[in-house]
Amino acid sequence: MGFRIGVVGATGAVGRNMVEVLEKSDVVVSELRLFASERSAGQTIMFKGSEVRVEVLTEKAMREGFDYLLFSAGADVSRKYAPIAADVGTTVIDNSSAFRMVPEIPLVVPEINGKLLKGYSGIVANPNCSTIQMVLALYRVHDRYQLHEIFVSTYQAVSGAGHKAIVEYERQLTGDMTHNVFPRQIAHNVIPLIGDLKNDISQEEWKMINETRKILNSQSISVFPTTVRVPVRIGHSESVIARTLFPIMSKEDLIETIASGEDVVIHDDIITPLEIAGDDDTHVSRIRLFDAHTFGLWVVADNLRVGAATNAVRILKLHSQLNCASSTESEIEVAEVERR
Ligand code: A2P
Repeated sequence: MGFRIGVVGATGAVGRNMVEVLEKSDVVVSELRLFASERSAGQTIMFKGSEVRVEVLTEKAMREGFDYLLFSAGADVSRKYAPIAADVGTTVIDNSSAFRMVPEIPLVVPEINGKLLKGYSGIVANPNCSTIQMVLALYRVHDRYQLHEIFVSTYQAVSGAGHKAIVEYERQLTGDMTHNVFPRQIAHNVIPLIGDLKNDISQEEWKMINETRKILNSQSISVFPTTVRVPVRIGHSESVIARTLFPIMSKEDLIETIASGEDVVIHDDIITPLEIAGDDDTHVSRIRLFDAHTFGLWVVADNLRVGAATNAVRILKLHSQLNCASSTESEIEVAEVERR
């Protein structure tokens, strides 16, 4: 036995990572299907030693019924195809922004609000990459001291804008400085705008504001982001200054609290995106306690993994454990999630 799984957008920057993370995981896959646009028809991608042919995405294929479909082909593709798949009983884990703020659709970081997956079927939204690593660094502090305000500046890798963005950046490194994907040259530069502006706030910044509140289940947290693209291939970095309602006992307690987060690693020394590319943890360094209510962090994670593919596969694993639990290990996992 095993799961019938499909990846939609399998040839993209995140899609390829979804296949790799699935391959590395202990998820038992009985069949893997890969979908992309007509441009990729005929390509193959390796999975567990076999070449899997990339198929053109069609409504008919979406109606076939899968155990899980992982989507990362943009919001328009998700809006059109994800409901078709969900209608025939497939659990869709969608990496796009299409459904994240729909009230009935769970927006899940498994370590934080994985319990929402219990008894749920349909579309599950995978949050924005910058939001995931920030809330992973902060959620235990929120549990203990209640977050009140978060001021965050991001330093986001080009791969977050997809395969075309990586190609544009690499072309610029060879001297061709034309740009189509980014609003300015990105090589040797930084760009303080990600997505279009709405009321002076960029799309990426709105995502961090709204998604943080939804994931942490608190409308009273104020988030003040500035999102910036930097000439880094993989790995988003964030400078986070946060304020709590209740006084933090000590710096040691703050460190212990952050470190108690699942899949969160604390570093005494500085940590940089180059060092964590390909890794599945969220890395925190430069921890500063400015006063009893105010602290600062430097948070780094692989945006394609922690911020996208790994979170999606963690959702898949937890969903399957919570809803198809049969082994003792699954029962322990269920009990742990229920305690959270
Ligand atoms: P393709 O490679 O055939 O264009 P990225 O985020 O790196 O740009 O990747 C986007 C992914 O979404 C790619 O796999 C891309 O396929 C896929 N994609 C984009 N548009 C469509 C579409 N209309 N139908 C199916 N797949 C699409």
